Amino acid sequence: MSPLIAPSILAADFSNLQREVEMLNSSEADYIHVDIMDGVFVPNISFGIPVTEAIHRHAKKPLDVHLMIVNPDNYLEAFKNAGAAVISVHYEACTHLHRTLQAISNLGVKAGVAINPHTPVELLSEVIQDIDQVIIMSVNPGFGGQKFIENTYSKVSRLKDLILAKGTKTKIEIDGGVNLQNAPKLLAAGADVFVAGSFVFNSDDPVLTISELKAIRLV
Ligand code: DX5
Ligand code: ZN
Repeated sequence: MSPLIAPSILAADFSNLQREVEMLNSSEADYIHVDIMDGVFVPNISFGIPVTEAIHRHAKKPLDVHLMIVNPDNYLEAFKNAGAAVISVHYEACTHLHRTLQAISNLGVKAGVAINPHTPVELLSEVIQDIDQVIIMSVNPGFGGQKFIENTYSKVSRLKDLILAKGTKTKIEIDGGVNLQNAPKLLAAGADVFVAGSFVFNSDDPVLTISELKAIRLV
């Protein structure tokens, strides 16, 4: 099984957004990962709904929207209307996570939950059947280009065990510091989807880098 690849547009050249989205269209990317930061849940502000709409206007790949915001319930419909195919909220930002997941599913988009590096995967055990995708953060959210946290491998294995035990189809996405060194080991631990921002966009040939990530196989 080849991994799914979700390049993060956060690392793109925003002054040439259409060109960057067209580059991703021409690549083997499976999704475009869209990082929304509010300056409250995370100590940074990225962009919001109009920019997501602009990305969607040119995108031929589904948008994987990662909401790093407080009160995500208030914006689910807006991001669905802006073109999201998957909406992930943060476990740490949701008091009523089960309700939020139902609200996302009721909009007809896939429901995701992201967990910060300090959050144990076991906290998802009662809602895993309602989650299409778990994002395991392998850096503290807020910035691209950070160093991968090594504890992530064991979180992936434990989440994979939980998913198998519960018999759900939940996918495991890894977000932060992913590169060609750590991705094979993450795939072996049970990861399905790789987000990659700086590793793709800072490379000499982003289309080739995406192909190289896509070509990783279980050995
Ligand atoms: C971090 C974001 C990531 C980020 C990944 O808060 O959620 O999606 O763009 O960037 P890299 O791959 O550079 O760590
Ligand atoms: Zn992200």
